Formats: sequence, C-alpha cells, structure tokens
Amino acid sequence: MGQSGTGGFACQNAILGIGGGIAAYKAAELARALMERGVTVQVVMTRAAQEFVRPLTFAALTARKVITDMFAASGEETLASAVEHIRVAQEAQVLVVAPATADLLAKFANGLADDFLSTLYLAFTGSVVLAPAMNTNMWNHPATRRNLETLRGRGHTIVDPEEGALACGMVGPGRLADPARIAAVVLSALGRPRDLEGETVLVTAGPTEEPVDPVRFLSNRSSGKMGYAVAEAAAARGARVILVSGPVHLSPPAGVSVVKVRTAEEMRAAVLQHLPEATIIVKAAAVADYRVKHPAAGKIKKSEERLTLDLEPTADILAELGRTKGERLLVGFAAETGDPLPEARRKLASKHCDMMVGNRVDREGSGFGSDDNEVVLVLRTGEAVALPRAPKREVADRIFDHLLKLRDAS
Ligand code: CTP
Repeated sequence: MGQSGTGGFACQNAILGIGGGIAAYKAAELARALMERGVTVQVVMTRAAQEFVRPLTFAALTARKVITDMFAASGEETLASAVEHIRVAQEAQVLVVAPATADLLAKFANGLADDFLSTLYLAFTGSVVLAPAMNTNMWNHPATRRNLETLRGRGHTIVDPEEGALACGMVGPGRLADPARIAAVVLSALGRPRDLEGETVLVTAGPTEEPVDPVRFLSNRSSGKMGYAVAEAAAARGARVILVSGPVHLSPPAGVSVVKVRTAEEMRAAVLQHLPEATIIVKAAAVADYRVKHPAAGKIKKSEERLTLDLEPTADILAELGRTKGERLLVGFAAETGDPLPEARRKLASKHCDMMVGNRVDREGSGFGSDDNEVVLVLRTGEAVALPRAPKREVADRIFDHLLKLRDAS
C-alpha cells in the first residue's frame, strides 16, 4: 500500500477493524490512543460489531465516517463516498483488528471474503495486527489454535489476550489485551524502520532447567517474554533472527528460527554453534548459575535425612562471548532486585558488553512474567538511559535504537 506524504512528513494511517464481541467498546480507547499519537484512523465495523457499539461512537471519535459494510451505499452515503472510504483504507500502512473474534480469525486464515472487513483483509498488503478476544474454550479450541498459527505464519502480529474474568463468567485467557498495549504494537508497526536488514541477530530467551533427577530440576521464574519481544522486534526491522530458547510457553515470532534448549550447557552449545553467523547478540535468557554436579539416575526418594545437593557453577556464556566477540555487538541483561544500575555497570565491564540492560525484577508490572518492563540501558560509553515502563516489545525497539546509535557513533 502506498505511503502518502503531507508537507514532507509521512502520513500514518491505520485501519481499525472491529469484530462483534463484548470487547468492541474497548476499541474506542484504542482509536483514541492512536489518534493522540497523530495516527489517522479509519474504522471498519462488522455487522456483529454494530450490535455491541454504534458506529456513531467511532465516527465522533475519529471524525470520519465508519465503514459498516460493502454495500452500505444507501441513504446519504453515495457511491462516491464509499469509493473514498476504500481509497483511505488502501492508503493505510497497518490493519489492526480489535477485538478479533474467533470467526474473524477463521475467515482471515481461510481467505473467506463475505463482508467489507474480510474482503479488505485479502486486498491489504501492509502490516496486520490482530488482538483476539473470546471465551477461553474458543481460544483454546484446536481450530482457533490452527488459525492463529496460520496467521502468525503469514507474518501477522498477534497481541495475545490476557487472563482474567470474562463476560461469560469463565476465568482464563480470552480478555482483549489492554488497548494501550495494542496501540504500542500498532505504533511500532507504523514506525517500523528496516534498519536491521543484513544483520543476523542471535537472541537467547527464557530460563534454563538443570536436572536434579529424572523428574526434578532447578530453574527460575523467567517467562521468556522479553527475549521473544527482542526477537520479534529484530525480525520486524529486517534482521535474520536465531532465537535460542529455554523452556517457555510462548509461540515463536513469525520468520524467526528457533533452537530449543533445556540446560545452560545446551544453551551454550547452541549459541557457540550459531556464533559465526551472528552480527548482534542479545542475551536475554536467565541462565542458571549452578547445576547439580551428579544428577541422580533414578527418582530421589523421600527420607527422614537432610538432603544436600552438590552444585557446581555453569559456564558464563555471556562472559565467554565478551572475550571472543570481535566486531559483534553484545547485549546482556542484568536481572536485579533493587536498583539495577550499579550491577548493570559492573556486569557491562566484567563481561565486556556493548550494552547491559538493567532490569528490576522485584516490582509489580515489570520484569519476570510481566508484559511490561522498566529498564535502564547502560552503554559501553558509560552513558545510562532510563526508559519509562513500556510493553516489552517497545522496550525491545528502544534497545535496538540505542545499539545502532552506538555503532554509528563509533
Ligand atoms: N549469563 C550467561 N551465562 C550464565 C549466567 C548469566 O550468559 N551462566 C548472562 C545472562 O544471559 C545475562 C547476563 O549474563 O545476559 C547477566 O545475568 P545475571 O544472572 O544477571 O548475572 P550473573 O553474572 O549470573 O550474576 P548474579 O546472578 O550474581 O547477579
């Protein structure tokens, strides 16, 4: 789709598709968040969506007529104005659908085109962001899972629903993601530079598991979300991405090669294997510092005796990379309780990194498991940049912004 310019500035146009779900009203917040950031929003509502919210709400919010159906050229709506709406839609760089119902996901995945939104989807060539919302059983249904895989495989960004109490009375995943989070993903898709083209970014993510016996292991609370966001951001900016991932419950971002590992030693082997190809390395994984020296061959049985595990240190992968990195850019993470700045500075120096991301993990709404993060970037120049709390995907983009600036300056 074409980029149109006004006075030298690129126009940022988004189409907001609204499906028929109880969360349709939350799309108003999303529209407002985008408009506040200077994005022109053209709303398209399905027939079912209009059962939940009146188009007038969105017309008033966006100061534009809402496209309600393919053949809605009735009343004051003329064919000319319908054509105008379609033109506006075609100028958009991003199509965001929120809420994306199970029905819409199925239509998009299978190429059905029986209303304006599904027809537009097929004709659209820009970035697609889908924010599903539905009942937990529908979300978990194999048909929906398969449709989501298909859509992810096409490179679309899925903003996963949140867990919580749903309108139907169930508790579980299915609630539309926070509109601010969806807006951040759309803004990042709109501003997406392709400044990592030609780079190979090696990312590590998630925890490691160190076996104690065949049924037990030592691990930590890392969810992998930060590392996966880094991989997604790098791929969106044109990089080839290799994601070495510990055991996590996340779907890999589209277009990323994933190498699954379990232990710190497996992670080290995978990183060293792919090191020759990498130009940028981001070590977001929470690697175990110790492992059991001799894991038991059979299940350890309970007894009245105290049990002592003999732990030995694992290899510090980041420190090893710091010694051998050459021209590569190396980013580490320092997960800390309390102010992360002093430790981030110390680890940057001791592990010879170009950037250390100081990450506070003992605060609600930031760190392990959270969708947001609040970090401080310490650069090899000694500069420290404190970033405001933001969705992990946005934090990932800021990491690459500063990393590339660092390289350009040297
Ligand atoms: N790291 C690594 N290999 C290890 C341990 C850590 O590559 N065996 C990397 C992590 O991926 C992260 C960075 O080192 O990028 C810092 O990890 P962190 O656990 O914060 O630091 P440690 O050096 O392990 O220090 P401590 O646990 O004492 O804070």
